[in-house]
Amino acid sequence: MMGNFLSEELIDEIKDANEIVDVISQYIQVKKVGSSYKALCPFHNEKTPSFFINQEKQFYKCFGCGEGGNVINFIMKMESLSFIESIKLLARRANIEIGMTGTSEEIRKQIKEKELCYEINKKAGLYFYGNLRKQPNPALKYLLGRGIISKTLANFGLGYSVNSWDNLMLHLQKEGYSLDDIQKCGLIRQNKSNGYYDYFRNRIMFPIFNTRGDIVGFGGRVIDDSMPKYLNSPETQVFNKSNILYGLNFARKNIKDRQIILVEGYMDVIALHQAGFKNAVASLGTSLTGYQGKLLKKYCDEIIICFDGDEAGEKATMRSLDTLDEAGCQFRIMILPDKKDPDDFIKIYGRNKFREHIDKSMSLIDYKIFLAKIRYFGNTIEDKVRFAKKVSDIIKDIESPIEREAYIEKVANETGISKESIGLEVLDKIKNVSVHRNNFKNNLNYRKYNNYIKMVPLVERKGHIIAEKQLIKFMIIDNKLIEHILNDISAEDFSVAEHREIVAYLASNMDNMKDKRIEELFPHLEENINKILSTDIEYIDLNNTLDKYIVNLKKYKLLYNIKILEEEQHSIINNLNLTKEEVESRLLNIGIEIMKKNAQIQKLKA
Ligand code: CTP
Ligand code: MN
Repeated sequence: MMGNFLSEELIDEIKDANEIVDVISQYIQVKKVGSSYKALCPFHNEKTPSFFINQEKQFYKCFGCGEGGNVINFIMKMESLSFIESIKLLARRANIEIGMTGTSEEIRKQIKEKELCYEINKKAGLYFYGNLRKQPNPALKYLLGRGIISKTLANFGLGYSVNSWDNLMLHLQKEGYSLDDIQKCGLIRQNKSNGYYDYFRNRIMFPIFNTRGDIVGFGGRVIDDSMPKYLNSPETQVFNKSNILYGLNFARKNIKDRQIILVEGYMDVIALHQAGFKNAVASLGTSLTGYQGKLLKKYCDEIIICFDGDEAGEKATMRSLDTLDEAGCQFRIMILPDKKDPDDFIKIYGRNKFREHIDKSMSLIDYKIFLAKIRYFGNTIEDKVRFAKKVSDIIKDIESPIEREAYIEKVANETGISKESIGLEVLDKIKNVSVHRNNFKNNLNYRKYNNYIKMVPLVERKGHIIAEKQLIKFMIIDNKLIEHILNDISAEDFSVAEHREIVAYLASNMDNMKDKRIEELFPHLEENINKILSTDIEYIDLNNTLDKYIVNLKKYKLLYNIKILEEEQHSIINNLNLTKEEVESRLLNIGIEIMKKNAQIQKLKA
């Protein structure tokens, strides 16, 4: 019964969105014991709990009365609801749209309508299919001319809508369907004088199947160069372009290595399947939706994105990445040369070359660097600088320091710009170049990068370096001041790397500094420390002077952060992958951040 109208995917989605412990806790008191949860069974009378919830497996079981199951079963039993009604309740609880509301009577009616729609679509599909087999017709000639073999045509159920205003309509009417029902499937339309006409005329027809194999809609391609090239079924109660992946019903049975190839178009899917890549699916020319991301995730572990090699494909790729990421999908990006799409590529270079390209598909970082190279890399110094800056921006997002270093090295080799400078640039961009006071010694991350940081005056602010030096000097000379000063600021508030290193050390050793000579502990900083110790500033009131220095540092840090935010604004403005709305909203958010920082600066003065 259920499978008839609620897709398995949707049911899974609803289950996933309703954590069983959360749900059950809304009804009864649940106690955590070890790795499981325990409660007094709501389904029979008991004084000692024998009702257990296994969170990992998302089921419950009562060892007293034997009742058990998943979150849906729990709701059915607890609320005395049918399966469908329980699903509805849980969907509502998780804010998931299931497209069915109303009483069970209404739901039954909707189910019936959907079934009818599948039935009519199937009849239409068969009719189109028959048309394609009637010789001679321009559609068959066209498809064969594009190298699609007869077996593939049959596998995908391709068809032809003849050049007529009522051919399909008459056929379906003869089969006993009302105009109203046919229209609900999106196969005919009403004109101004209330007559009906066929929606698809003189087009190659691609039936679109759901994962269960029902035809939910059609794509129709012109045979010549007229417009629009593709016409898709309008939204109906069974067709929603953003919930479907073309080819998934075929691909799902052929997924090897839990890998799916994601392409842009109908013809790409078909060409790839014919060439033996039977794990290809398409998102029908729209940007990938969250729903599609989750659907993919259900069937595979890794997605190879293989969009057209043109600018539109590049943009579609960038847009789909976030979606895939949010859906928890692993992905790699495949690049086709000369603005080719997968179908063209296979035709020209063959399947082995395509396989090679799959093997060469890139990680996100590699892909971004690749794009930066195309856009910015050149022979002049300016080009190289621009490229290195762009790439630093990309590298800063890599979490693993080892990986980061490997990329820095790679870019250094490619540009001839020193590793150190690129590292410096990357670090400039990492917002929280910080050492935490206490784990400084263990902070390998910091240590590694310390080599790259020399001095980074991103914003010039008179006196702040002196302020830093003086604060350090006070702390070295009078260890009691360490605590006092570090009450207010910490190592990461110092802008100079060497200073941070020293301050972090002082912070973690403030209690046993007595016998230590700091120069000996930091031989590589000896010169620095000597300089610090030899700068002399006159002061009258120590506390006042310290406060002034501390304010100076805080202000510098805020200015520095503002500078970074401003740079972020620049990169947003230059980011071609963002829509106007996205640019505006991001700029606004950063603008607010900047205002907040400015307000903090104002406060410091007071
Ligand atoms: N598309 C669409 N409506 C259009 C153009 C495109 O729905 N007017 C969708 C179709 O699903 C199409 C996909 O976007 O398959 C990719 O478009 P495109 O690259 O232009 O088409 P191809 O699939 O390459 O088709 P062909 O090779 O037949 O030109
Ligand atoms: Mn194409």
